[in-house]
Amino acid sequence: MSLLEGRVAIVTGGGRGLGRTYAIMLAAHGARVIVNDLGSSAAGVGADQTPAEEVVSTIRAAGGEAEINTSDVADWQGARQMVEQAVDRFGGLDVLINNAGILRDRMIVNMTEDEWDMVVRVHLKGTFAPLHHAANHWRARSKAGDQPDARVINTTSHSALFANIGQANYAAAKGGIASLTQIAARELQRIGVTVNAVAPRAQTRMTEGLRDYTPEQVARRDPEWIAALVCWLASAESREISGRVFAAWGYGYSVIESWQHGPVTDAARDPTDLGPHIEKITRFARANAGIDRDTWLNP
Ligand SMILES: NC(=O)c1ccc[n+]([C@@H]2O[C@H](COP(=O)([O-])OP(=O)(O)OC[C@H]3O[C@@H](n4cnc5c(N)ncnc54)[C@H](O)[C@@H]3O)[C@@H](O)[C@H]2O)c1
Repeated sequence: MSLLEGRVAIVTGGGRGLGRTYAIMLAAHGARVIVNDLGSSAAGVGADQTPAEEVVSTIRAAGGEAEINTSDVADWQGARQMVEQAVDRFGGLDVLINNAGILRDRMIVNMTEDEWDMVVRVHLKGTFAPLHHAANHWRARSKAGDQPDARVINTTSHSALFANIGQANYAAAKGGIASLTQIAARELQRIGVTVNAVAPRAQTRMTEGLRDYTPEQVARRDPEWIAALVCWLASAESREISGRVFAAWGYGYSVIESWQHGPVTDAARDPTDLGPHIEKITRFARANAGIDRDTWLNP
């Protein structure tokens, strides 16, 4: 039996890049897939259903089952309709992959209100809205005595986890998604739903032209390396794993360990003599992870 036989999956932003690869690989391993994509530009402008249609055609041509959905993931009703479509067309939902995203990079001093709002909306609300509606579907099933064995896979970013300058809006949203992943994992555990996140590094239109890579580096940025992990996380085999964030690319997969307490000092009611104590714990604390210092990220 195939890894994902009988499972129904939604992939948001499934028309291009990583989402496209996820949708095709999920279907190749037996899943029936709702391919959601608004078809906007990388900056979130416009709409075009051609990319999602192409993915659906590719899946069908290979003998798989897929349906197109063109909802905006951050639209509350659109997100609900996406979950309803999975239930109506394929009889349920087992896997939600929140992947859709856009970029509007700018230094904080130059960032406009619109640039902030659009990026936070698509990523953060665009993850929460489908999650909320999917969670309601699973809770209803659980209450009816049909305990789900369901998966949510969210998308965070090294930009958030390792503090990339110039991406305050994007990183704030992606950091929020990492926290949301952990909370959702705890809340949904009792109804049979695991929630994990991936922080991918891949060559797509989002990252095209950022740097010159060698052919070997380009090969290690093929979305298929990340899709393999996502497909496994979507399967019944990953049942015991929840609340985790995985860095993923062709060089390997790592578990990102979350915030931990470092050195501690006594609290005070008077700030006057606090200086040496705060300086001391800060000196002995590990430095924050920085995108420029991480050798695993920059082989
Ligand atoms: N490529 C990387 O290295 C990288 C790194 C870190 C995180 N990510 C994240 O991975 C995800 C996929 O990125 P990608 O590199 O494949 O980018 P991409 O631009 O190739 O694909 C994103 C897709 O999302 C769709 N989309 C955008 N807004 C939408 C909306 N409101 N509703 C529905 N669909 C919408 C777009 O039409 C597009 O097809 C994003 O969340 C991105 O932030 C990518």
